[in-house]
Amino acid sequence: MTELFPVPAEFAKQALIDEKTYQEWYARSVNDPDGFWGEHGKRLDWIKPYTKVKEVSYTGDVSINWFADGTLNVAANCLDRHLAKRGDQTAIIWEGDDPNDSKHVTYRELHEQVCRLSNVMTDLGVKKGDRVTIYLPMIVEAAVAMLACARVGAIHSIVFGGFSPDALAGRIQDCDSSLVITADEGLRGGRKVPLKANVDKALETCWSVKNVLVVKRTGGNIHMVTGRDHWYEELTAKAGATHTAVEMNAEDPLFILYTSGSTGKPKGVLHTTGGYLCYASMTHQYVFDYHEGDVYWCTADVGWVTGHSYIVYGPLANGAITLMFEGIPTYPDASRFWQVVDKHKVNIFYTAPTAIRSLMREGEEMVKKTSRSSLRLLGSVGEPINPEAWLWYHRVVGDNRCPIVDTWWQTETGGILITPLPGATALKPGSATRPFFGVKPVMVDAEGKVLEGAVEGNLCLAEPGWPGQMRTIFGDHKRFGETYFSTYPGYYFTGDGARRDEDGYYWITGRVDDVINVSGHRMGTAEVESALVAHPKVAEAAVVGYPHEIKGQGIYAYVTLIQGEEPTEELRKELVAWVRKEIGPIASPDLIQWSPGLPKTRSGKIMRRILRKIAENEFGALGDTSTLADPTVVEDLIENRMNRG
Ligand code: PRX
Repeated sequence: MTELFPVPAEFAKQALIDEKTYQEWYARSVNDPDGFWGEHGKRLDWIKPYTKVKEVSYTGDVSINWFADGTLNVAANCLDRHLAKRGDQTAIIWEGDDPNDSKHVTYRELHEQVCRLSNVMTDLGVKKGDRVTIYLPMIVEAAVAMLACARVGAIHSIVFGGFSPDALAGRIQDCDSSLVITADEGLRGGRKVPLKANVDKALETCWSVKNVLVVKRTGGNIHMVTGRDHWYEELTAKAGATHTAVEMNAEDPLFILYTSGSTGKPKGVLHTTGGYLCYASMTHQYVFDYHEGDVYWCTADVGWVTGHSYIVYGPLANGAITLMFEGIPTYPDASRFWQVVDKHKVNIFYTAPTAIRSLMREGEEMVKKTSRSSLRLLGSVGEPINPEAWLWYHRVVGDNRCPIVDTWWQTETGGILITPLPGATALKPGSATRPFFGVKPVMVDAEGKVLEGAVEGNLCLAEPGWPGQMRTIFGDHKRFGETYFSTYPGYYFTGDGARRDEDGYYWITGRVDDVINVSGHRMGTAEVESALVAHPKVAEAAVVGYPHEIKGQGIYAYVTLIQGEEPTEELRKELVAWVRKEIGPIASPDLIQWSPGLPKTRSGKIMRRILRKIAENEFGALGDTSTLADPTVVEDLIENRMNRG
C-alpha cells in the first residue's frame, strides 16, 4: 500500500485552492472552457481585450488559438504593470556561483534594464518577428534579454550554455537569428565556460547573424570581431532608459525552444504570447501556492523550459520574488542549496529528482546542519521521482512539514499539466497525482483504444486543452501534426507512458519513444547515434537508455567499428569526447559496448527492444527473437554487456 500524505492542517489554513475549489474549477474548465479561460485570461493586462477565447482543433490541419483577437505585451505584464504597486520590491534575487556574490534587483531596476536593452536591440535593427538567440549563463542579463525580446516583439531562442558550438550553430541556422546575446564566459562550480569562443566557432557557419552582444561576466580574454561584436554594458549604458512596449497579438510568437524528439534534428517548439503567459502565471500561482512576498526558487537553467516558465515568465507576471542561481548544487559543497535557502529565506523550492538523488548520497548531515525553517513547499520536475527520493526530500529537506508538488509537463506543454495542488491534493510518493485545470488525460493502448479505470497505457491529452500548449514546430507545421497528433488521431500524444490508479492518480512511467531522460535533460537517441556515426572510425551505432542511480537514465551506446579498426580503451574515450564536442557534455555516453553486429530483422531494422533489454541487464526476457536475421549477434552482445549491476 502506498502511504498517503494528506494536506497538512497548517498548510491548508493559508492555501489558495482547497479540494472543493479544485473540483469545481476543474469541472468548469473542461465543461465550459470558454467561460473558465475567458475569466482567467483577465489575470493579464490586455491592450485590446479579447472577445474570442478558445479556437482549437486537434484534427486535420491542427490549429490552436487562444484569446486570438486580444493584444498585449509580455514584458509590460511582467514589469510595467507592477511598477506602481511594487516598483521597489525585489523582482530577482541573484545568487552567484561564488557564495559571496549575490544581489537583489527591484522591479523598477529590471524594467529600466529591459528598456535599455530594448532600445539597443531596436538600434541594431531588430524588429517584431525577428529571431534572437540567447546563449547566456544564469545571470540577470538572461532574464533581461528574454524580456527585451518580448518587449520589442522579437522571438527568442535560448540555447543552454552546455551545448557545443555545433549544436548552437544548428539552432541558429534553423531559425535564422540575426542577433546573438552571449557572455565572455560563464561560471559554474568554479569553472569557466567559454561561451563567446563557442559563439565565434558556431558563427563560422551561420550567415544570418549580423550582431553579437557580449555581456562581461568574468572579464576573461576573448576575441571581439569589429562591426559584429559589441559589449552589452557599453551599448546599454548609452541607450535610453524608457521604451514603449510593442503591441502584440495574443497569437504572435514569444519564443522558440529546441527540444529532442525520437527522430531527426531537435525541433523548434514555438510558444505564443497570450495563452502561454496566462497559463505560466496561473500554474505558478496555484501549483506553488504563491502568496505576495514569498521568496520562490526554481533551480533550473533558463536554457530549459522550466527556466522560461517558472524562473522568468510565470513568477514575474505574478509580481513574485524569483531567485536565480548561477551555480551548481555541490559547489563549494553539497550543502549549497540549503545554505542559499537560509541566506535568502526561501519559502518555495523547486528542483529535479536527479539533484535530490545526488544530494542524498552526500548524507543527511549536509542538509540537517542548515535551518530551512523558511521552507513551506517543495517541488519536483523533469523526470519520474522514485518514492525513495521523494520520502527523503519530504523528511530530510522538508522536515516532514512541507508538501511536495511532483509536476509533470513538457517543453511542448508550456506549463505544468499533471500535479498536486498543495492545499487540495493528498500526496502519494512518486505520483504526479491529478490534472490541472483544462487538462484531460486519456490513456490509450498501442492500438489507440481508449482505456478506462485503473490501467497502464500511453498518455494522451484530449481537448479542450489549456492555453499554454505549443502552437507549431517553427517552420514545419506538417511535422507538428505528424509528431504529436497522428499516432492517436484526435489526441495530443505525449510520448510518455503512465499508470492511472484506482483514485484517478497518474504515475508517469517514462518515455515510450526513442527519447531518453538523462538527469532531467531530454535527449534523442537518434541525435547521439548520428554524432557517433559521424566519427570516421564508426560504421554503425545504436543508442538506448538504461537505469542509472543518479541520472535516472544513462546513455548506452552499441558501436560497430569500420572493418580493421581496433576497439581500444583509448578509442572509447575518444568517442565520448567526440560526442561531447558534437552535442555537449549532457549527451556523453555512459557506456559504450563494441558490437561486431547489431540485432536486425531480415529487412534490416535494428531491434531496439533487444538492445534496451541487454542494456538494462535483463537479457533473460528478450521476448520474441524469431525475426532476427542472425541470432548469434545477440549472444555476443549479452556476453560482452557493459551493465552488470
Ligand atoms: O518524460 C517526461 C519527463 O520529461 C519529459 C519532458 O521533458 P522536457 O520537455 O525537457 O521538459 C522537462 C521539464 C518540464 C516528459 O515527457 N518528465 C517531466 N516532468 C516529469 C517527467 N516525468 C515524470 N514526472 C515528472 N514530474
